[in-house]
Amino acid sequence: MSKEIREHWDSRTAFILAAIGSAVGLGNIWRFPYIVYKYGGGAFIIPFLVALLTAGIPLLILEFSLGHKTNKAAPGAFAFFNTKLKWIGWAAVFIGMGIVTYYTAIMSWSMIYFVKSFSLGWGTGTENFFFNNVLQLSESPSHIGYIVPVIFIGIILTWIWIYFSIIKGAKSVGKVVYITVICPWIILLILIVRGVTLPGAMNGLAYLFTPNFTALMDPEVWINAYSQVFFSISIGFGIMIAYGSFLPKKADIVNSAFIIGLADAATSLLASVAIFSALGHLALKKGADVANVVTSGPGLAFVTYPEIINLFPIGAPILGALFFAMLLTFGIDSAFSLVEAFSAAAVEKWNISRAKMNGIIGIIGIILGIIFTTQSGLYWLDIVDHYLAVYGLILIGIFECLAVGYIIKPEVIRNYANEQSDFPIGKWWDFMIKFFVPIVLIAIMIWNIWAEIANPYGGYSRSALLVGIGALVISFALGILLSINKKRTV
Ligand code: PHE
Repeated sequence: MSKEIREHWDSRTAFILAAIGSAVGLGNIWRFPYIVYKYGGGAFIIPFLVALLTAGIPLLILEFSLGHKTNKAAPGAFAFFNTKLKWIGWAAVFIGMGIVTYYTAIMSWSMIYFVKSFSLGWGTGTENFFFNNVLQLSESPSHIGYIVPVIFIGIILTWIWIYFSIIKGAKSVGKVVYITVICPWIILLILIVRGVTLPGAMNGLAYLFTPNFTALMDPEVWINAYSQVFFSISIGFGIMIAYGSFLPKKADIVNSAFIIGLADAATSLLASVAIFSALGHLALKKGADVANVVTSGPGLAFVTYPEIINLFPIGAPILGALFFAMLLTFGIDSAFSLVEAFSAAAVEKWNISRAKMNGIIGIIGIILGIIFTTQSGLYWLDIVDHYLAVYGLILIGIFECLAVGYIIKPEVIRNYANEQSDFPIGKWWDFMIKFFVPIVLIAIMIWNIWAEIANPYGGYSRSALLVGIGALVISFALGILLSINKKRTV
């Protein structure tokens, strides 16, 4: 630990907003609605809420408590209990760093769309515009092509934005999040009001909220619910450990975890109301069924939503700009939380100034991000995302639970969390951490691997997928390497 006194949030509100800022991101606005759409609407909501309560919030309590008790970022927090566990923390923050390298590319596309929206510059062929004009997509991952200059400029701008947001660690993050959390929420409310007052909106909402109980029998729905919860509340990357470590002595951990988890879920549901009501309108205009209007799931934000914006009777450019401003502001605090988790750990290890560390991270981030700005960028993004955000996160989740469940012992963490909290958690929490969550995660893992042996992910070639697997292996290898070199502190 460096000589400086550990930084702290200015207030509990700053902490809650920063954690919500990290949690709420593209995962809520873009990923959640398209997964709900894919699984037939209402069917997905029940598994999602079950996953939130049985795994999401218990792990949030675990990560906050680890950080708060030890006053350290992820590697130090694990090392506090047992130096042999340190690698889990390092692997988590390295995976997080991998994720930012492509998260900034999505931010860059959002910037391009933000600018284009003032003139509705995507025209009527929104699909063509996204793939051919913006991404200039090549035919396969191995056709790398050239760097698309605007996308590259966009990632540089995003990194500059990240750099300044975290320049003074928790102090500046605590200020920035007042804007980057509250503004997009206001925009979301505007888009909801606009959405639900469009003709046809009710059909979209009916699709969103009609439960389909037979879908509950499909394991794939449950698997996606658990992975979505993990990704959406940002657990498994060491972020919530670092954020918990910046909490002052008196902090209501259990209560905060519930507030943050529920706020994140509420945001996903509200974003879906905005999007599905607009999809209802799109279906009406096209004379199609709501179930058939979205052609490519991941294209929801960049292909389908611009198409909807074109249809807004009044103020289309402004509403378009608001939508992309919302994506950017929801996204930026998720991006910088990943960097902050790494940087907090690195500053503890190397005793180097935070500003220097963030500068180095930014430059490495830009260099590694170049691949995502090329014509094949979308493919690589999809592949790396799949291995880091799905497998990486699940693996870290499993290791975290096993470490706390069997080595650190859950009652140590539970007692600590309870001392800090107004309402206590009971023994059920130990059960979740020791058995339930790891079993669910291991089952998901096996199911995924099994399915992918038969059908390689996304139909990519096996050699392209190896790159994604490589990114995952390198994150773990670096994590292990950093933990065994020299026997010094963190
Ligand atoms: N939780 C963020 C979202 O929903 C994504 C994210 C994951 C951010 C992991 C940081 C870490 O978009």
